[in-house]
Amino acid sequence: MTHPRERSPEPPSERSPEPPSERPRGHRPHAVSAVRGPLLRFRDDPFRTGPEEALAYESDGLLICEDGRITAVGDHTSLRGRLPAGTEPVHYPDHLISAGFVDTHTHYVQSGMVATFASEMSDWLGHHTFAEERRFGDTPYARRVAASFCEELLRNGTTTALTFAAVFPGSADALFEEASARNLRIAAGKVLMDRNAPDDLLDTAQRGYEESKALIERWHGKGRNLYAVTPRFAPSSTPEQLEAAGALWREHPGTLLHTHVSEQADEIPWVRSLFPGRRGYLDVYGHYGLLGPGAVLAHGVHLTPDERDRCARTGTALAHCPSSNLFLGSGLFRLADAKERTDPLKVGLGTDIGAGTSFSLLRTMNEAHKVARLTGYPLDGVRAFHLATRGGAQAMGLQDRIGSLEPGHEADFVVLDPKATPLLSRRASRAQGVEDLLFALALLGDDRAVRATYVAGRLAHDRYRDGDRDCDRSGNRDTSAPAL
Ligand code: GUN
Ligand code: ZN
Repeated sequence: MTHPRERSPEPPSERSPEPPSERPRGHRPHAVSAVRGPLLRFRDDPFRTGPEEALAYESDGLLICEDGRITAVGDHTSLRGRLPAGTEPVHYPDHLISAGFVDTHTHYVQSGMVATFASEMSDWLGHHTFAEERRFGDTPYARRVAASFCEELLRNGTTTALTFAAVFPGSADALFEEASARNLRIAAGKVLMDRNAPDDLLDTAQRGYEESKALIERWHGKGRNLYAVTPRFAPSSTPEQLEAAGALWREHPGTLLHTHVSEQADEIPWVRSLFPGRRGYLDVYGHYGLLGPGAVLAHGVHLTPDERDRCARTGTALAHCPSSNLFLGSGLFRLADAKERTDPLKVGLGTDIGAGTSFSLLRTMNEAHKVARLTGYPLDGVRAFHLATRGGAQAMGLQDRIGSLEPGHEADFVVLDPKATPLLSRRASRAQGVEDLLFALALLGDDRAVRATYVAGRLAHDRYRDGDRDCDRSGNRDTSAPAL
């Protein structure tokens, strides 16, 4: 039975976060801009209909944007008459224009310690990760990492990210400031943890509540920023803190709820011992009102069938993070169990930096394919792209604004280059149709395949403009960067 405090499912449009109230300084979108080239769109969910039926591909498309939104999209020949006099579309022949990628789970504060070796998850988290997050008490450091995180998102074609900050409210301020300067759509929150972490990284139920509330008032709905109430995971919060998290989320409609669930098998008995009155890991969140549309739970590798049913019933989304699950040896996420049902779960892809080892959603698709393959459910290119775009938008309750190239949607998109590297180029040249090309991009692509990233209709990253002009024939260049 649904606990009375559990959020009942609401139509996504009602739960969609508030529209931006202000336009950020310095980022007035061009009145009208347009791009021309092959366009990738979805007319349906490929997990329901199959890849061919779901895909709506325009081999020579036109996308017209006004004031940051898409106003028209379709075939170039039929739409070009709608371009205002003097507006010349930027032409990307032989590329592929897709909705910008949506990263539904990452930790910006772990950017600096990505690919840190530890033999056990407990050592990785308890030693290396907490040591790095401690550095975010220093706001200038937080600003530098936040700026490089935002740049890395853009280099990888990611236009929306849901991310953890550290326990320090200033670490969330730093990210919202840097995201605002780039007009990126970021959902973030200061992490809540009041036990099972080093003392100097703990807040309390009361302080976490007050600091989160102040951040919500400062940032939620300002420009493109959204707030996510962010208890780290059940073991690092007391019942009082989870109660406070539930209150915060309830009191601020439109905010998201972001946490981890059932990542490693040994978390499950630990959670049972910490919350003996609850039926299991997910029931802890259900009990404190932390399930429902707008809740994004990372991993869910070890969910039980009943727990998956409860996610489906409540509209709770999962962020599938294959790179992280392989890096930490967490286990294999069962995508088929989430999708092959009459009431499919909302699933997005997450990089989970720094347990995940790449900012690239293309690389994450590659790892998702391999994990799915090991569970007997191979993931094709169409479904992989759907997970990384529209699936992520649905997981975050933003499907009416982002995640596909539709009139009225925010004009966030990525221009992919199937000739970015010799290997990709050779493989793409023999692609048998667009489905095959998508699979090749998903399996062979990475940041080098991102030719350009547009945010709210503006060019925010151009691989050739932003320093990659000197790429050698392998698409490599000198990317040395100073320590932050
Ligand atoms: N579980 C609790 N905290 C974390 C974290 O920072 N990363 C991952 N992968 N799992 C977690
Ligand atoms: Zn995580």
